Formats: sequence, structure tokens, C-alpha cells
Amino acid sequence: MGTRKEKNMAINKSKIAIIGCGFVGSTTAFSLLTQGVCDEIVLIDINREKAYGEVMDLKNSIEYLNRNTKVVVGTYEDCKDADIVVITASAPMLENQERSRLGMLESSARIVKSIVEPIMASGFQGHFIVISNPVDIMAYYVYQLSGLPKNQVIGTGTSLDSARLKNFIADLVHVDPRSVYAYTMGEHGDSQMVPWSCVTVGGKAFYDIIEDNKELVGDVNLDELVLETTKAGWEILHRKGTTYYGIATSTVGIIKAILNDENSIIPVSTLLEGEYGQEGIFCGVPAILNRSGVADVLEIHMQDEEMEKFQKSADIIREYCNKLSF
Ligand code: LAC
Repeated sequence: MGTRKEKNMAINKSKIAIIGCGFVGSTTAFSLLTQGVCDEIVLIDINREKAYGEVMDLKNSIEYLNRNTKVVVGTYEDCKDADIVVITASAPMLENQERSRLGMLESSARIVKSIVEPIMASGFQGHFIVISNPVDIMAYYVYQLSGLPKNQVIGTGTSLDSARLKNFIADLVHVDPRSVYAYTMGEHGDSQMVPWSCVTVGGKAFYDIIEDNKELVGDVNLDELVLETTKAGWEILHRKGTTYYGIATSTVGIIKAILNDENSIIPVSTLLEGEYGQEGIFCGVPAILNRSGVADVLEIHMQDEEMEKFQKSADIIREYCNKLSF
């Protein structure tokens, strides 16, 4: 149109690349788009036609949203100037894998390696958010393969499990889940644990709430609640074949904390270097997230029995990290 000359203004644009256009990748893109989180979304998939299909469909929703976002199909080269690359591609989470995400390790590792190498070759210097399961081990793998500083590699870890736990607690005491402060920590998998002594609802200790509201909560079995939380993904998988709304929205929560420099505390999988007595593994712990990625790890004071469970979970992650080949 006309002869308008565009000046190359030095305004930074936020660009998110999503690797893998399956349910998780495309739902993450949709959530970014509907919440108006960034300026540009790049979808990358080995099945380029699938990526095009998703982009075409996503673009058709812009008219009715509150902002325009550029949505394009890209290649690994396009990650060069991305602020965040989200890795969703992994082996499928199948019912027959002993109902454990750890069974996906070998095939996911192969896929993740084939993704990280070309992205690093592009000159990428931003943040990786790793969703691929088993996520704690894959996030560690991405950290090692990429050579990026630890704050720039984040696994979604127990961010989703914590949301699930909050839903269960909220249903029990009839409050908004966002008024519940609770984390699950350790592995995003069967060994995760909940430091119940630190759970509060509106500032009141959950233990006290149980004590003071027997008629409301009855004989609540906390171990059952942890088990329900741990198995929540499988319960969904069993009914609809896969899970994506929860994990996509958790991921977008992490992305918003980074892009908006929020200093939000979200439990994610991050490299531990002495925190909680652990060294050299990625593990789900509450962390402060801002523009630098993981700015700090929150070391909550757990009771001895809770700490023991956490250490057991961390040891399982370590055992599987040791199976990785580089
Ligand atoms: C879940 C997958 C993302 O728990 O691990 O839903």
C-alpha cells in the first residue's frame, strides 16, 4: 500500500516458538493467542502440513480476540531470535507404559536431542520451557545439551500437579482454588510429594482447617489426596486419550511470569545446586520466575517426614538422569 517507508524501530517484540503441534503444542498456542501474551507465535513440527493447518485455524480466531498476534509456521532457524522456545514433542504417553512417564525416557530423549541441537545451531539464546515427559529428566537433558545457563532452562515440573492438588483441596473446603497455597514437589510422576505442613488456605494452615471444620471435610485422607493428584493425568488419559488444557495453561502461566517479569512463585523443574540438600538434578520446587527465568528457588521448611519423601523422589529422578546418554 502506498509508499510508506517502515522505520526499523528498536521496540522489542516478544516471540515464542513452539516445537510440536500435537494437542499440547497447539493448545499452548491457542492459550497464548486468546490471552494475548506475546507478539509472535511460531509453530514448528516435523509434519509441516499439520503446522500449517494449526496456523490457519489459529489465525481465524484473531478477529474475535482483543489483540492481533502474528502466528506463523517456522523452522528451527526461526528460533534464533525467539525469547522462549517451548518443547512439547515427546514420545506418546501410553497406557501400557506401566502407567509411569519414566517409561518414555529413551524415545523422548532421542526426539529432544534432535530438536535442541538445531535450535542451538540457530544461535538461540532465550529460555527453554520443557514439557516433554518424563519432564524432570528431559529438562536436565535440554540443560546439558544446550549449554544455556540453568535459569534459562525450565521444566513444567509439578506446576500442573500443584494446580490439580489445589483443585482437590478447593473442592473439599469450597473455596476458589486460587485461594489455596499448596505445592506438590519432586518428580512430575508417581513419587511426587506434598509438604502438607506448608499448605494454607487464605493464610490459615490446612491442618488447622481440617481440625476446625470436621463437619465440612470429614475424615480427610491426605495420602489419598496425594494419590489422586498423582494419578490425575492418567485418569484424564484413560477417558480422553491424552491431556492438554491443564499442561498448556500451566505453560502459559510460566511464560507470562517470564515475559511480564512477574516474580511469580510457581513450582517448576529447575536445577538444584544444594537447595534441599540436592545437587545436579532438575526437580519440581517452588521457584521465583521473572524475565531472567528461574530467578531463585524457594526453600520451604519441611517436616522431617516430608523431607524424607522429597529426597526419595529426587533420588528417583537422579537414577533416571543417569540413564541418559549424550
Ligand atoms: C499430565 C502430563 C502433561 O500430567 O504429564 O497431564
